[in-house]
Amino acid sequence: PAAVIVAIDGPAGTGKSSTSKAVAGKLGLGYLDTGAQYRAITWWMLTNGIDVNDPVAVADACAKPVIISGTDPAAPTITVDGADAAGPIRSAEVTAAVSAVSAVPEVRAAITDLQRSIAAEAPLGIVVEGRDIGITVLPDADLKIFLTASAEARAARRNGELKGKEAGDLAATREALIKRDAADSSRKTSPLAKADDAVEVDTTDLTLDQVIECVVTLIEGVS
Ligand code: C5P
Repeated sequence: PAAVIVAIDGPAGTGKSSTSKAVAGKLGLGYLDTGAQYRAITWWMLTNGIDVNDPVAVADACAKPVIISGTDPAAPTITVDGADAAGPIRSAEVTAAVSAVSAVPEVRAAITDLQRSIAAEAPLGIVVEGRDIGITVLPDADLKIFLTASAEARAARRNGELKGKEAGDLAATREALIKRDAADSSRKTSPLAKADDAVEVDTTDLTLDQVIECVVTLIEGVS
């Protein structure tokens, strides 16, 4: 069968990563976490003293780091200049800075090229998750899914993931998510948005297994 390209977009905390990894694993597809790439470039900016709130400085520097994403859904990897970035890119500092960095058009152009070449090279196909995959990165994807969930459900899930690390109170997590989504949705270049031809799945009252099953069925319908 031909390679199947699946785009999964949506706000933070809707279950994009958990769903995409599980679905790709079940169907033998590759998996690409594009948020991890924006986080990786942000981490590099922070560790190299670039002012992340200066779009000119960010644009000047953004071609320097070499970001490599491993697409095995059972063990996705991300390196920056050869260093494992999987841990540091999840820090609160990176999370707070990533929306500013990812709003810079030069950053998006560089990362979008990288994403397209990774998708083109996936032998059996790939599940690519992010914010602008269905509209900008892979507009010809075989299937586009837009995941949503209530702010309460998203905050509760994110706090669960952070447990023991940096979990704050639920209200603070909720506010941080809402702030990041507002920034990602209102930027000029490739904002977070649902493609007209995307299937919207509201995950608020679904278990992860139910969301996985739903997406697998949708993929089987197009491949
Ligand atoms: O998915 P995750 O929450 O890790 O994404 C981190 C950030 O990366 C988002 O808040 C957004 O600013 C940026 N991003 C983006 N476009 C994508 C994926 C992520 O701008 N396709």
